[in-house]
Amino acid sequence: MILVDRPALAPLTTLRLGGNAIAEVRLERMEDILILPETLKRLGGFPHILGGGSNLLIQDGELPIVVLRPLMGTHDEPKVLRQGDADEGMTDRIFLRVGAGMRIPHLLNWCIRHGLAGLEGLAGIPGRMGGAIAMNAGAYGCSIAPLVRSLTVFTPERGTHILSPEEWEFTYRRFILREKSSWFIILSAVLALCVSTPEKVRAVYKKNFLCKKACQPVHEYTAGCVFKNPEGYSAGRLLDIAGMKGVRRGSLFFSHMHANFLVHDKHSRTKGTYEDALELLEMAQTRVKEQFGIPLEKEVRLWPCLS
Ligand code: EPU
Repeated sequence: MILVDRPALAPLTTLRLGGNAIAEVRLERMEDILILPETLKRLGGFPHILGGGSNLLIQDGELPIVVLRPLMGTHDEPKVLRQGDADEGMTDRIFLRVGAGMRIPHLLNWCIRHGLAGLEGLAGIPGRMGGAIAMNAGAYGCSIAPLVRSLTVFTPERGTHILSPEEWEFTYRRFILREKSSWFIILSAVLALCVSTPEKVRAVYKKNFLCKKACQPVHEYTAGCVFKNPEGYSAGRLLDIAGMKGVRRGSLFFSHMHANFLVHDKHSRTKGTYEDALELLEMAQTRVKEQFGIPLEKEVRLWPCLS
């Protein structure tokens, strides 16, 4: 376990916004979990779990939170556990254990090299494995949910334990743990991927990545889509028609490329603020509600989350 005092949070997020936490706790090995409860008691503050930081909008200033970073698996390869069997109707599947800290782009590269299909829809998503599960990340008709066979999680109430699929629920961009717990950390996951060939997996990956690059601002500081798509609509399209593209407050603006992306201007001399970001999100919600009568729900998570 590595402890960092008063870490700056902005560099840990893809939007590059936010103040400082009380502490950052880097969990690099499973054994680190054993001393976590004691460490948290000593540090005080509200635990907040950080994956790849790619879906976060964090307040400025000194925040009363302790950031927990499950980094197990960051530098390891996924571990092949076994091939699916006929009883499961899964002879074409390979079961893999992946640490929560593994970066999605690394995992995708590994899957391409080993000819394992299923995750290609996550092409271009910068997060880590734990965050991808906690957000049910997805795109291009694929989400991570149907691939997850088991999860190792930590909760303050039950400690480290293994869950099977009936113990969780995935909905659109959401993971729900059925057991009651004040908070939880995903430590690792077992995924079932489909046996294919490197060429086929690479081709689908490439198609999705090019598609993403053509219509999303992948080289800017953003937090991905900031609003969920309302049923039957694209939030990006609604925001576009409502005239939000290019609307700016300070160093933050809605992308000219895709209206559901809030961009933190890299070239601006001043750092963007949480207040500016929130004002833009509220303006966008008001315009879409007034023009179409449709409420937009935030996909981006706001920190601190003290409830
Ligand atoms: N559109 C516009 N103007 C815009 C943006 C989009 O007219 O500014 C139109 C597009 O031309 C298209 C339609 O709206 O006809 C849908 O757009 P797109 O294909 O970009 O998909 P989306 O619904 O905006 C969703 C996910 C993305 C995911 C893409 C691709 C959500 C909130 N967004 O976007 O996920 O990458 O599909 O599958 O579910 C994310 O969740 O962070 C994310 C980026």
